[in-house]
Amino acid sequence: MKRSFFITFEGGEGSGKSTQLALLSDYLKALGFSVVCTREPGGTQLGEVIRKLILNAPEADPEIAPKTELFLYLASRAQHISEVIQPALNDGKIILCDRFTDATLAYQGAGRGLPKTELVQMTQIASSNLEPDLTFFLDIKPEAGLARLGGREEINRMDQEALQFHESVYQGYKGIIAENPTRINVIDATDSIETIALIIREKIDALLS
Ligand code: TMP
Repeated sequence: MKRSFFITFEGGEGSGKSTQLALLSDYLKALGFSVVCTREPGGTQLGEVIRKLILNAPEADPEIAPKTELFLYLASRAQHISEVIQPALNDGKIILCDRFTDATLAYQGAGRGLPKTELVQMTQIASSNLEPDLTFFLDIKPEAGLARLGGREEINRMDQEALQFHESVYQGYKGIIAENPTRINVIDATDSIETIALIIREKIDALLS
């Protein structure tokens, strides 16, 4: 029986994916599973430095060019896989990752307008063709998701993009979901935290059984 699983959480800003990731981690740990919670960009010492570079960059001068931004996300991923994800998979752990390749295709592809064919190739190189076993997409319209960020301490460089950018990202995700109907579970992120957690647990129970 397969013991290790790679599970990712995706969604727009304010979709609540980090909350759900933490709740799922608690659930799995209570069942006795060995769980690794991680995120992108980030998840390693180097990745967290890259995260700061990408997300905390001052708004103005000089702007990060779309390709530069892409390579930074991919660099973080390559290190993350080599240092954290692949070793954890080899050890039979369950990895819960806040964002992965789908985010690159949605944000740098649909959002920034980088060409899809090249982007797919580059994401495959960075991830050594690793794909999640299961992905939860927490579905909330950009306007509603952004409105939820109001109470948050840290608003990052991507959060500050125009609504139009977030709309494009959202449409990008919808395209990715249509191409991966088995892997990606779409969950209504406007439901209560408890309802969403329950739906996610049911999917996970089915995966593990
Ligand atoms: P978050 O961890 O709070 O979701 O912030 C990460 C931001 O980085 C979010 O706006 C999505 C963005 N992002 C990309 O643009 N490309 C990527 O490949 C990844 C992993 C994240």
